[in-house]
Amino acid sequence: MIKLLDDTDLERSLRADVQAGLTASPKSLPPKWFYDERGSELFEEITRLPEYYPTRTERDILADAAPEIARITEAKTLVELGSGSSEKTRLLLDAMLARGTLGSFVPLDVSATFLSSSVDTLVADYPGLSVTGVVGDFAQHLGHLPDGDNRVVAFLGGTIGNLVPAERAAFLGSLRQALHPGEWLLLGADLVKDPAVLVPAYDDAAGVTAAFNRNVLHVVNRSLGGDFDPSAFSHVALWDPQQEWIEMRLRASTAQRVRITALDLTVSFAAGEEMRTEISAKFRRTGLSSELAAAGFELRHFWTDPRSWFSLTLARAR
Ligand code: AVJ
Repeated sequence: MIKLLDDTDLERSLRADVQAGLTASPKSLPPKWFYDERGSELFEEITRLPEYYPTRTERDILADAAPEIARITEAKTLVELGSGSSEKTRLLLDAMLARGTLGSFVPLDVSATFLSSSVDTLVADYPGLSVTGVVGDFAQHLGHLPDGDNRVVAFLGGTIGNLVPAERAAFLGSLRQALHPGEWLLLGADLVKDPAVLVPAYDDAAGVTAAFNRNVLHVVNRSLGGDFDPSAFSHVALWDPQQEWIEMRLRASTAQRVRITALDLTVSFAAGEEMRTEISAKFRRTGLSSELAAAGFELRHFWTDPRSWFSLTLARAR
């Protein structure tokens, strides 16, 4: 494992994010902090909800396209950013190994615990494949990816949608910097569609997404000595048709004061005040193509499902 990040770094950036977010107007917290152990479990549960189509749709696209991706890229190394569900990764690994080009897999994740257990499983299941986990942040450490040739960097699940346009440009630019001409980005991105489909995916009937949203308050409480009462916040998911993104918020049901000991900070919420916790941007092929081009990538292949709900793009570094 390569460690570009340790628990101290993570705690320092959590503090900075919470300090900045809770003293801003309107208040916000970055979605990065949803994913402690409980949050990761809740996200896994979300991916199985009837309303949450992205994960299963992307998996279906990938199951179809993986052999083609392996043939086109002739990947020697597969890098996976924010290495989420290993199930999707395996579709790629299997196709690339079957093609006979793949020698190594480099999953990158901020969670060392999560990463080391998934590296162990992969090493056991794929003898002969070199697996190097990188503990790092995709928004920060792309300059430190192991060098190679014919690398394919997979960024799946629609996580790119958590970034606002300026952050996406910075991310794509630094990824392009980290690659040699001819290397590849495989990008999973959710597409613009009827809000009647989008909104329930982020506001499910069983309330799992609401629990996932509130979990960020538990994370702040535990990590920074906060006294948020998560039950005093309600889950909000709305579609912003101008920005073309889903926005998740937590709405304070009553006026309240929250103390964050580790920051020596007290913040007040007015009754009904909303705090943004996530954006999940939805894309169009034209927009993806121009954002990729602006960063020095050429969109070469674009796969989607029969309903055009989710997309998988293969882009080549110029
Ligand atoms: C993991 C960022 C792709 O934006 O759909 C799921 C997270 N948030 N339900 C998404 C999420 C609410 C998810 N990503």
